[in-house]
Amino acid sequence: MSIPPEILELLHRLLERAYAPYSDYHVAAVVRSSSGKLYGGTNVENAAYPLSRCAEQGAVLQMVAAGEREIAEVWVMAKDSRPATPCGGCRQVLSEFAAPSTLVHCLSQAGQGRTLSLEELLPHAFGPKYLHPK
Ligand code: THU
Repeated sequence: MSIPPEILELLHRLLERAYAPYSDYHVAAVVRSSSGKLYGGTNVENAAYPLSRCAEQGAVLQMVAAGEREIAEVWVMAKDSRPATPCGGCRQVLSEFAAPSTLVHCLSQAGQGRTLSLEELLPHAFGPKYLHPK
């Protein structure tokens, strides 16, 4: 898989910043928005375990706080020899701001893995279209 060097470097930097003292499973995520900007996140765990946050959610929060709402591409990397895969909750969070065809690159620390579309990761997604506008 060919990862742009800028993104690979960012993922590795983020992996070092992940706060995962309980699971020791370090995750980094980078979201490229439709404007081309990159937003990064890491998992941030908490001694009160259910309050822990996933890396993908951190990256999406950064993007929205910067005033953007369109995800163009996603990279998720685990500090592990096996590629990361976004959890179910993160698939749903990504789908709020990404088209079904958006590519999600699932990577090991060495940058190996596979690319899936968001629709492959989350078929028949629930989304805004199911809700009546206020
Ligand atoms: N984790 C993520 O950051 N993203 C995912 O999609 C899967 C899981 C984190 C949450 C927790 O800090 C650790 O990995 C173990 O579940």
